[in-house]
Amino acid sequence: MTPKRGKQILYLTQKDVVAAGLGPRDVLKLVRTALTQHGLKKVEMPAKIGIHPLPDTLMHAMPAWAPGVKACGIKWAECFPDNYRFKLPQTSGLMVLNDPQTGWPVCIMDAIWITAKRTPAVSALACQKLARRDTTEIGIAGAGVQGREHVQVLPLVLPKLKKIKITDRFPQVARKLVADLQPTLPKVELVPCEKPEQIVRGSQVVVTATAILNKPDPQVRDRWIEPGALLLPVDFDSYWEWKTFKRASKFLVDSLAEMQYFMTVGYLAHGLPKLHAEIGEVIAGVKPGRQPKDDLIIDMNIGMGIEDVVVGLEVYRRACRKGLGRLLPL
Ligand SMILES: NC(=O)c1ccc[n+]([C@@H]2O[C@H](COP(=O)([O-])OP(=O)(O)OC[C@H]3O[C@@H](n4cnc5c(N)ncnc54)[C@H](O)[C@@H]3O)[C@@H](O)[C@H]2O)c1
Repeated sequence: MTPKRGKQILYLTQKDVVAAGLGPRDVLKLVRTALTQHGLKKVEMPAKIGIHPLPDTLMHAMPAWAPGVKACGIKWAECFPDNYRFKLPQTSGLMVLNDPQTGWPVCIMDAIWITAKRTPAVSALACQKLARRDTTEIGIAGAGVQGREHVQVLPLVLPKLKKIKITDRFPQVARKLVADLQPTLPKVELVPCEKPEQIVRGSQVVVTATAILNKPDPQVRDRWIEPGALLLPVDFDSYWEWKTFKRASKFLVDSLAEMQYFMTVGYLAHGLPKLHAEIGEVIAGVKPGRQPKDDLIIDMNIGMGIEDVVVGLEVYRRACRKGLGRLLPL
């Protein structure tokens, strides 16, 4: 069911996007392609622009074009941390995919699923290049959508992983995550923790997926961090002391241009430490990953439109093949 060029678009609900049937390894492969293209500077992706209706909220326009895979479009993504008051996830979004030959829109799809899946895929690919090879324990702060997705994807890339510790500002949320997901992960012990210290001490990788704050509210004392740890904040510097950031052997981001944009609208008040690389450059092999002399490594990824359009194009293609979604007139 392919839309008639210039006459129709395909509309995909979240249910349709899920039914397209991409598995975690498909998403890892697609995200690796997106990051590699980004690292080789073969994409067009201006830094996102945004509006901020309430304090600590954001709505972002994320256009991207990957000529190598002919993926182009734009994600309109929202993050409202207080949405729990309305019993809604904080992250939402829609994506428009376009035909690169005519420019015409071909598909509008829910982007919540793609955001949920591509973000931990970036963390997982970063682990392969930047984590200690002997990683046995991970800590995760934030047991929401991203916490759940990271718990499911990181074991795929860390063969020696034995334990994942999870904390949340609402302890029952971390306990529920463990109760729900432990049966699906027989080889890894999931442990709900009350305090940030418990998830950080002894962990070779720590992911933070809490809330992006204008002004950081550090929850982790630098001295708790394991030698040679890899920190993967997907929520900026919100959870960390600046002195931790400053002492990293290697500091990476996904897109420097994105970070510079965020600084213009009041985030990252301390600025950034000296940059080793963008993560795509490491994935593409242009810059080195972890080296023997490295201690702490931090890779702070805020998410890039290029990941969304590359994954979104594959969702669209599969949806067309499977007859999913609804054709709408333009
Ligand atoms: N970098 C990226 O590509 C990317 C993509 C999606 C989401 N995010 C960010 O990841 C974060 C989580 O997103 P989500 O969709 O999982 O949200 P969510 O609302 O589903 O989950 C967030 C969880 O974090 C918990 N939390 C909030 N503040 C906390 C704190 N100080 N300490 C401990 N727990 C805390 C909440 O109780 C909630 O359970 C947000 O900051 C979001 O903006 C980043």
